[in-house]
Amino acid sequence: MCGIFGIINDKNNQAAATVLEGLKKLEYRGYDSWGVSIISDNEIKVDKHIGKIGEAQTNLPPGTIALGHTRWATHGGVTDNNAHPHLDCDNKISVIHNGIVENYHELKDMLIKNGHKFKSETDTEVIAHLIEEKYKSKNIKEAIFETFKTLRGSNAIAVLDYHSKMIIACRNGSPLVVGLGKDQYFLASDVPAFLKATNEVYFLNDGDAVILSNDGVKLFDIESGKEQVLKPQVLDWKLEDAEKGGYPHFLIKEIYEQLKTIPKTTSINGKEILRLAEKIKSGYKVIFTGCGTASFCALTGKYFFALQGIEAQSIPSYEFMPFSKFIDNKTLVFAISQSGETADTLIAVKEAKKRGAEIVSIINARGSTLERLSDTVLTVGAGPEIAVVSTKAFSAQLSTLYLLSMAVGNNYDEGKDKINLLGKVLTNFLNPVLINRVVDLAKNLMDEEHMYLIGKHLNYPASLEFALKIKETSYIHAEPFAAGELKHGVITLIQKNTPCFVLASNDEVKDEVLSSAAEIKARGGQIIGIAPFESKEFDILIKTPDLGELTIFGNIIVGQLLGYYLGVGRGADPDKPRNLAKSVTVK
Ligand code: AGP
Repeated sequence: MCGIFGIINDKNNQAAATVLEGLKKLEYRGYDSWGVSIISDNEIKVDKHIGKIGEAQTNLPPGTIALGHTRWATHGGVTDNNAHPHLDCDNKISVIHNGIVENYHELKDMLIKNGHKFKSETDTEVIAHLIEEKYKSKNIKEAIFETFKTLRGSNAIAVLDYHSKMIIACRNGSPLVVGLGKDQYFLASDVPAFLKATNEVYFLNDGDAVILSNDGVKLFDIESGKEQVLKPQVLDWKLEDAEKGGYPHFLIKEIYEQLKTIPKTTSINGKEILRLAEKIKSGYKVIFTGCGTASFCALTGKYFFALQGIEAQSIPSYEFMPFSKFIDNKTLVFAISQSGETADTLIAVKEAKKRGAEIVSIINARGSTLERLSDTVLTVGAGPEIAVVSTKAFSAQLSTLYLLSMAVGNNYDEGKDKINLLGKVLTNFLNPVLINRVVDLAKNLMDEEHMYLIGKHLNYPASLEFALKIKETSYIHAEPFAAGELKHGVITLIQKNTPCFVLASNDEVKDEVLSSAAEIKARGGQIIGIAPFESKEFDILIKTPDLGELTIFGNIIVGQLLGYYLGVGRGADPDKPRNLAKSVTVK
């Protein structure tokens, strides 16, 4: 929910500027405010402000060690004072934090009684004062570990200590990763912050702590305080993955990257997919779960499975509990998440695990909590997704589910061929003619306040995802319905010229969907077809590639593009929609 970035031994002696640059790469994790702290001559100096980090610069003094943060507010309003980092009373300890300290009221009362002065309303500031209190009688490592053990809730903290010139971080629930450069060490909540310098990383587990100093990085177990062996891994991510590469926004870059990331799914996970397919064929119950876009992916998975004659359930993670009692040790729970850190998904997974299910996660990010909770991981290999709005991670997850469904139907090789063909067809589809049509459509729709969408069967979850892209990126109210639902109430919303998208494929329900379109048209609605065929019902058509059950990929990509161009046209920031964070690590 927040971005954390720290550096030890900045080669240019400009650690604050380096941290600021790294934080800009993490802004998708929170953009209510930002702040940087640096060790200067007599104390720690802090520069922090509300608002997006964007083009921000800092006048902090030179130095080699700094720690910074971008915030997505939970406790305390969005003010300069509430921005991280937070300091102790003597400006010798700087703390940044990701998570919620559930017992902060009682801790704060105790610290105030002991004479500590607070400058913010945040739960985080409590941590700085608590460390200060314990530092009176212990060394910094013990003071921080003890403080961390006192905090209730899921938290990651990073502490910059003036006296020892170290950065110390502890993890429980919120992601942290260490980067090992050449005589330079980094701490971050996500790899893009330091990818420019190194791809040699260590993802902290819950209960891990790290100490970064000029001597290197040491790993500890927080509970025992004992040092552990740190085993780094080298990621295949490249610097370009975390750069815009000539595109104006990450979102549009990532939409185009799908031309490669979708087909890439055919060359990974093969062994695991075939093993899981055998289990499913032997009678294991299948449940797909996730939140937001990932829950639409889950729902699509259920339709893909039905096409192969296999029953599967899809349950949004935040509605999982009432149904968890039906889970047993012959259940496979597929948890879908780009970040692997979504709190609701993790809660569902922990419950399923308790009930004996085998957990299979379909994740894009690396080193996540979900990855650790899973028995099997299907990484979808889309590379870092920086835009808050999910596109390439979603389509790679969808493609993976499709391949799984085809494997269950004994058609895995055919599935791979179809996905590879999809990649080629989409490469031709995303051409300037399409972009011009989508831009023209966006111009027509720019001032609309409400839009409606219908789809049936596979195009129903597709319309849910299409609508979410419009809502997230342009802030226009776009409401999706199953086409069959229309006449049961929704039709009252249709007035003269109300824009209504009709998502369709050349499938067995095409005529039914067109009948629904006719009903809307008869009430004055403006029908925008997103389909691989022409129809007299469509006032406007964005023609998509005709690819059977995979037609929905093209249909959804039109929604991604339209959301992007609507957002840009309406002055929204397509990479960082208001109020949203990339990983929703709170319930
Ligand atoms: C996607 O565009 C959304 N920002 C959101 O719905 C997201 O899919 C959801 O929060 C789940 O995230 P996850 O995939 O990281 O678990």
